[in-house]
Amino acid sequence: EGSIARAVDSLRNGMPVMIYDGDRREGEVDLVYYAGSVTWREVYTLRTLAGGLICFVTSERVGRLLGLPFAQELLLSQESLAPLASKTPGYGDPPAFSIWVNHVSVKTGISDEDRGITISGLHRVVEKAYSGLVGEARRMLREEFMSPGHVPILLARSLDRRRGHTELTVALGRLAGLPPSFVIAEMLGERWSLGLREAEAIARERRIPLLRGEEIVEACSRGEVCR
Ligand code: 5RP
Ligand code: CA
Ligand code: ZN
Repeated sequence: EGSIARAVDSLRNGMPVMIYDGDRREGEVDLVYYAGSVTWREVYTLRTLAGGLICFVTSERVGRLLGLPFAQELLLSQESLAPLASKTPGYGDPPAFSIWVNHVSVKTGISDEDRGITISGLHRVVEKAYSGLVGEARRMLREEFMSPGHVPILLARSLDRRRGHTELTVALGRLAGLPPSFVIAEMLGERWSLGLREAEAIARERRIPLLRGEEIVEACSRGEVCR
């Protein structure tokens, strides 16, 4: 309860939160920022403190409005790639990946500055779509971005269907009253993903709120806001 309030506060103030999905899933902790507060500095923190794949997260609904498919759908439509796309990871969830993009103004796309620019651009597109200006949002996506690029887009399904970091992030965002526009990366250690105990130590040290997936699901089940 108290930790949800702290996390909501953190996201609203441009600060990170950490989310542990659960023992029966990936068992990973992701570092999460609201995309509206991301500059190259936050990308640097995601890259150095987290170290995993830096992904932009929006909702499946916004994805549909923008004409963004799941990567799996695209690959399944190509005969030679369909066998690759019909497999799922051990814990069984379908992938959240859509396409990978760069903003057209970036140099190579991978530097902190470049990824910051791509992420801010995506945030403006999602804000537009979310506020109902769908035509304008689609035009921005079409004209200002290219694919493939260096920022993968993840699409969150509903919490009833999937409880990955993608969905937990968007659900926490709903509790915070923020549109579905976030950036996440897995926290990695040496060789393996960071264990929960080590993540807890970093959270304490840096005063970053750390939530478990169940806490978010529980907080959401108490209101209509997460639907
Ligand atoms: C992209 C991933 C990560 O696991 C990320 O946390 C999002 O995926 P999920 O919703 O499956 O947890 O696959 O780096
Ligand atoms: Ca995953
Ligand atoms: Zn994950």
